[in-house]
Order: sequence, then C-alpha cells, then structure tokens
Amino acid sequence: MGVRVKNLSFSYGDKEILKKIKVDIAKGKMTGILGPNGCGKSTFLKNILGYLNPNEGEIVFNGRDTKALDKKDRAKLVSLVPQKSNLMTNMSVKDFVLMGRLPHLKSSWAGYSFDDRQKVEENLKFLGLEKFSERVAISLSGGEFQRVLLARALTQDPEILLLDEPTSALDLNHAVELLNKVKSLVIEKSLTGVAVLHDLNLAAMFCDEIIMMKDGEIKYQGTPIEVLTEENLQKVYNLKARVIRDESGVPYIIPLV
Ligand SMILES: Nc1ncnc2c1ncn2[C@@H]1O[C@H](COP(=O)(O)OP(=O)(O)OP(=O)(O)O)[C@@H](O)[C@H]1O
Ligand SMILES: [Mg+2]
Repeated sequence: MGVRVKNLSFSYGDKEILKKIKVDIAKGKMTGILGPNGCGKSTFLKNILGYLNPNEGEIVFNGRDTKALDKKDRAKLVSLVPQKSNLMTNMSVKDFVLMGRLPHLKSSWAGYSFDDRQKVEENLKFLGLEKFSERVAISLSGGEFQRVLLARALTQDPEILLLDEPTSALDLNHAVELLNKVKSLVIEKSLTGVAVLHDLNLAAMFCDEIIMMKDGEIKYQGTPIEVLTEENLQKVYNLKARVIRDESGVPYIIPLV
C-alpha cells in the first residue's frame, strides 16, 4: 500500500512529459525522486496531488482509486510542499498555516475549530517556527518561508506527503533538520513520504527508496545503494562521479571535474 501508479501519461499540449509511468511508492517510507532538470519530477508530483490530470493511467492511494475522490477528499489524503510558491501573502504565518485545515472544515461556512488552531501551533513548534507565528508571511526569508510551507502541508494531516525540493532554500543545517523531522513523521505516522531532491547525498542519507527519472520515464528504482551508482549517474545525469560508501553502506557522491 501507499501510492500505486499504473501507466500514467501526461502531456502539456502535444508535448508528452510523463510516459507510461508504472511504480509503487511504499507507505511508512521516504522515497526520493531524482533526475535532471525538466525530466518531469514536479509534473509527476502534481499528477499525484490531483492538480494536474493524467491523459491516461491510474493513481491509487492506499487502495482507493483517486478517480473516485472529489477534490476535498483527495486533499484530506495528500498534501504538497511546492517547489515554487506564489503564495507569499501579507497573511500572518499562523493564518497561512491554518489554510492547511481547509479540506477538513465540515462545511464551507464552518469556521476553524480550537483543534484546528491547536494543530497549527503544534506544527509551528515542531518545526521551530513558533517565533514567526504573528509575522506577515511576506516578511520571512526564503528559507523561513519554505519551512512554513511544510508546516502548512503537515497541518493538512495527509497520509501522503509530497515535497518538491523542500530544502532548496535551506542552509545545510536546516536541510538536515527538516529531512530528519519529515523522516521521523513518516515512520511514526506511517505516511507515504515522497521528496524530489537534487542533493544526491541528502537523498542517500534520508531516503529508503530512490526513483531515478529521465525524459519522463523511470529509469531506476531501488535502495540508494542499488540506484546511486557511478554507472547510473553517468547514464541519467551525464555526470562523471565517484561513489564511495561509509561503514553502513550509505553512498556518497563526489562529482569529478
Ligand atoms: N505549464 C506548462 N506548459 C508547458 N510546458 C511545461 C509546463 N510546465 C512544465 N513544463 C515543461 O515540462 C517539462 C517538465 O517540467 P517539470 O517542472 O516537471 O520538471 P522537473 O523535473 O521538476 O525539473 P526541475 O528539476 O527543473 O524542477 C519541462 O520541460 C517544462 O518546461
Ligand atoms: Mg521541479
């Protein structure tokens, strides 16, 4: 169980971006999606989210065909930390994060409950963001706002958590901390965690499974040890690299210039 993707194809106009993708993404694990710029990683996540609709194929969440779900029910199951956000608003951080509760409101005119506000506080605290709670979102730095986007996605209380380059604006310390926290939640709450990452070393450290994409197709899937090989990096990224391993077998990638 988790996310099952069957023969998923997606095009922007007549440009085919995803080509018959077939994959199972496990529950209770972190899966990393890797691949060169423009290969379709964000498009893939947006199809899982339901923001984009496939031309063909099926996406099944924990045994439920997503075609049978309306928007609100789908948003109770899956949330996304986007790669780009135009949502830098002059709302306060806590009100912005509260928007994560929208799919859970009993009706469109029902207000937020005490529990909803409590969840916002818990998540801001969990991510060390409580000091920003009253600040206007637009006044935050890029890295602070990126963590607020995660707080909103967690407040949505999903079973499937999609992260599109969640550490792109973070310093290494915050990047490691964020991935560590996400991983602990994935294990503790048995979520299906899916993160697009460009940092191969962070992917090797935090992902249980790796999906490596190229030109809208999945080229390799397996553990970091299986997938992050010198040969695969050459084929997929056209990158010459050395791969060394630490004592527990975790691969480290050193690009060669
Ligand atoms: N709305 C759109 N209309 C047309 N083409 C698009 C649109 N959005 C994305 N594309 C194209 O689809 C391809 C895949 O884009 P996508 O954003 O999925 O790539 P990606 O793998 O996430 O890349 P990156 O690592 O740079 O974020 C790219 O060539 C992109 O230019
Ligand atoms: Mg992308």
